[in-house]
Amino acid sequence: MAGNLKGLVLSGGAGTRLRPITHTSAKQLVPVANKPVLFYGLEALRDAGIREVGIIIGDTGDEIRAAVGDGSALGIEVTFIPQSAPLGLAHAVLTAEEFLGDDDFVMYLGDNLLRDGITPLVDRFRESDPDAMILLQQVPNPESYGVAVLDGDRVVILEEKPAEPKSDLALVGVYMFTSAILDAAKAIEPSPRGELEITDAIQYLIDQGKRVEPHVVTGWWKDTGKVEDMLEANRLILDVIEPSMEGELVNSNIEGRVVIQKGARLVNSHVRGPAVIGQDAIIEDSYVGPYSSISTGCVVRRAEIEHSILLERVHIEDLDARVESSLIGRDVTISRTDAKPRAYRFVLGDSSVIGLT
Ligand code: TTP
Repeated sequence: MAGNLKGLVLSGGAGTRLRPITHTSAKQLVPVANKPVLFYGLEALRDAGIREVGIIIGDTGDEIRAAVGDGSALGIEVTFIPQSAPLGLAHAVLTAEEFLGDDDFVMYLGDNLLRDGITPLVDRFRESDPDAMILLQQVPNPESYGVAVLDGDRVVILEEKPAEPKSDLALVGVYMFTSAILDAAKAIEPSPRGELEITDAIQYLIDQGKRVEPHVVTGWWKDTGKVEDMLEANRLILDVIEPSMEGELVNSNIEGRVVIQKGARLVNSHVRGPAVIGQDAIIEDSYVGPYSSISTGCVVRRAEIEHSILLERVHIEDLDARVESSLIGRDVTISRTDAKPRAYRFVLGDSSVIGLT
């Protein structure tokens, strides 16, 4: 294999499936157990011994730059690479051509999470030295994914979201490439949805007689592109979180795996883990149930929350039903007043979703 191994993390994109959160902010920065989903990927690359990481950014680039900085806090060296528009994963690879040079690289989709990291997979790529290696996982609904058909230890067919899948092996959002993928990305045409597809580029490698190796991933993997997947990723991470207590409890109790971050204050409240309560959050006369991630600066008073992610500075007060299975964006306020006439009063952004019973 050629010299150095770099990382390429894709953190542009449109994020249409996570609106309205993505109207104002990057989906890769939505927190899972109070840490941006993107950071799990960057840490996985670091843990695999990769130092030089290019991050593809789009419209939300400024926010990604501000969150990641130069990468030194995460132990990596970051180069930001602006992409003109989200024209596909293979287009993102071409955009990074100068950064990549002739080096091999691991491409990591910035909204994906793998429980076991990628270290053994990167080691295997280094040893086996194929032209490309793709990660796969068996799924019940392959028609929603890129799908691979194998012949022994070789990939023979790749299809993007096929109506009639020929296998149940979905492409996981981590790929290992040699610079051969750059020529492939230049050779292909945009798909009917107008994107340069990475599946077409890999199929081109296969058709040129290159060796594309599959690796089936057994630990859990989540693409957090949709709300329910984001909540599931949050569940999976909270299930293994290390409990800690840096805040203050006043007449309150906690059960199970719970992280209380610095400056958080619980008054007359009950937290049943797994859950994380963020920095300087205030929980008063409330119940926080399993699988809740409450971010920095949130205020919850006289309310019940379960199985939800609250982004920074959400205020929830005086609700008479439990909030559950919810993803609530920054600075949102939900409260009840006794003002007459009795009515719902909303100030909602485009594509907001409200469920009332
Ligand atoms: P996707 O989730 O496939 O695409 P998307 O972000 O446009 O989302 P949606 O389908 O909901 O509209 O992208 C996977 C990852 O790759 C994600 O982190 C965004 C990133 N990406 C880019 O950086 N550039 C691109 O051109 C595309 C298509 C995606």
